[in-house]
Amino acid sequence: MDFYLAPLEGITGYIYRNAVREFFEEGIVKYFTPFIAPRQGRGMKRNEERDILPENNKELKLIPQILTKDAEDFLSLSQRIHEDYGYDEINLNAGCPSKTVTTHGKGAALLSDPEALDRLLDGIFSKSSLRISVKTRIGVESEEEFGPILEVYKRYPLSELIIHPRTQTDGYGGQIRMAAFIRAFRECSFPVIYNGDIFNIRDYQEKMNVIRSSTPDGKLPPAVMLGRGLIFDPALARELSRCDSNMLSEAEESAPADSAASLTELRAFHDRIFTAYEEILDGDTPLLFHMKELWGYMGRLFPGDAKKLKSIRKATKKADYLTAVRSILPLY
Ligand SMILES: Cc1cc2nc3c(=O)[nH]c(=O)nc-3n(C[C@H](O)[C@H](O)[C@H](O)COP(=O)(O)O)c2cc1C
Repeated sequence: MDFYLAPLEGITGYIYRNAVREFFEEGIVKYFTPFIAPRQGRGMKRNEERDILPENNKELKLIPQILTKDAEDFLSLSQRIHEDYGYDEINLNAGCPSKTVTTHGKGAALLSDPEALDRLLDGIFSKSSLRISVKTRIGVESEEEFGPILEVYKRYPLSELIIHPRTQTDGYGGQIRMAAFIRAFRECSFPVIYNGDIFNIRDYQEKMNVIRSSTPDGKLPPAVMLGRGLIFDPALARELSRCDSNMLSEAEESAPADSAASLTELRAFHDRIFTAYEEILDGDTPLLFHMKELWGYMGRLFPGDAKKLKSIRKATKKADYLTAVRSILPLY
């Protein structure tokens, strides 16, 4: 199975992606940028530009993602990204559920009106020569909405369709709506990629098992996109690639013991991210803000270290932060 690193705004920028590539690359074949929203006549923000610069993304396959409801804006930004930076595949965000995005009709709000979605895709595909993929949810409020949305997608030559099978109002919680994913997987002629709630081998195998048993020829999707699960445990793609998804009942036993991240790897991973942020950020506050955001996820790997994690959260100075981190991730 191939794995993709999902875009997570505020986390999976080039610094994080490069650290994943350096220490936990096994199994990951594609990385997606967090969304870039076109700004009329004003070009990309400096940090967005820095995030896609080829020199900041050496040795990794990066797909820039655009968030817009306007075909012309998509075309001009994607063309610029292609001409200035050499990318030939662009992803359209049709899934972001955040209010600040959906109140402007973007992200998951594109799904509220399949005819408007159709016009948007028509405007894009009739003029663009780039490879275009879509990352989508399955509706705004209800799974019933997915039928007409899927019919729209099926009309276009998407390079792939990545589905997080939840509605906008589901946010990031509640049951995954597997039937909707399976329907798309069975009906689409372009590759359909699964994304959602894979946090460990068991989740992965359960989901793959459901998909496989629901298709006549027992097929699996060509790739799975990992989001929060990989931020919780950066070795997740490696763990999943090393387990044999055919051996469902022996899930845990079939995984080699060395697939989880070691403390030494985590320490090196952390330090790489810390040093890279330190170079570009001015002062302790923004640096610690970024690092603490990461610990909000990675802290789950240390369930017995609540006090040490609290010291990380409370640190306001770089030195205190590093002392707290070293108490969890010592140098060997
Ligand atoms: C903090 C955060 C930021 C996200 N930012 C983006 C984004 O910029 N673009 C996007 O398509 N999805 C974004 N997502 C959604 C994820 O890419 C992914 O689809 C979602 O987390 C479900 O996958 P998971 O269960 O593996 O995490 C974000 C999710 C989170 C939690």
